[in-house]
Amino acid sequence: MLSRNPYRGKYVVFEGIDGSGKDTQISLLEPELLRKNIPYVRSSEPTTFLPTGLLIKALLRGKYNFDPRSTVLLFLVDSHEHLRLRVIPNLRRGRWVLSSRSFLSTLAYHTVLGIEREFIENILDRLDFILPDAVILLDVPAEEALSRKGKELVKQVYEDAEFLENVRRAYLDLAKEFDNVHVIDGRKDPFEIAKEVKEIILG
Ligand SMILES: Nc1ncnc2c1ncn2[C@@H]1O[C@H](COP(=O)(O)OP(=O)(O)OP(=O)(O)O)[C@@H](O)[C@H]1O
Ligand SMILES: [Mg+2]
Repeated sequence: MLSRNPYRGKYVVFEGIDGSGKDTQISLLEPELLRKNIPYVRSSEPTTFLPTGLLIKALLRGKYNFDPRSTVLLFLVDSHEHLRLRVIPNLRRGRWVLSSRSFLSTLAYHTVLGIEREFIENILDRLDFILPDAVILLDVPAEEALSRKGKELVKQVYEDAEFLENVRRAYLDLAKEFDNVHVIDGRKDPFEIAKEVKEIILG
């Protein structure tokens, strides 16, 4: 079931298409938390500490050709174990968790890939997912995000402009549906965005 975060720590998620600036903004928020003596951990999905995350990375490099439904199940397993093994234990101890991506990425990307929304939602309902306290959605046109990523060497399966533009739209639709999603124009200067993020997260 998607339930509210009952723990002491705040769960803050950054969402947006590849290259939208999620990790950049997490890095700019970190010093603000340090200044306020707020304990936190930084994390991301797909995970980097579980074999499910490694398998996802291999799939994204086009190494295997999984059935789309198996692929979405894999993403959801990785996301669920990320919550169980990293996010919740830290929130319980009163630490904030700053995460690049969450189950919302799966909803945005995989509905565009043709998976029925009910398929994903049925699984979300049957596992123990929690809603973030705040989601920062960095909205950037696909062309711009891809040109930022152009510097990186390995092109991944999902990095196609038309596809990512559809994912961008799916994200904007999700933002209207879910509480606590804050859409920010990700084309702005990173420090300008960071000021807005700080205002939203720390008031
Ligand atoms: N507001 C911005 N304006 C211009 N360039 C930016 C901005 N924010 C980040 N960048 C640059 O865009 C690139 C991608 O940024 P970043 O890695 O933070 O994105 P990401 O959303 O974490 O991407 P991914 O989904 O691939 O992990 C980096 O080179 C970064 O320096
Ligand atoms: Mg990133």
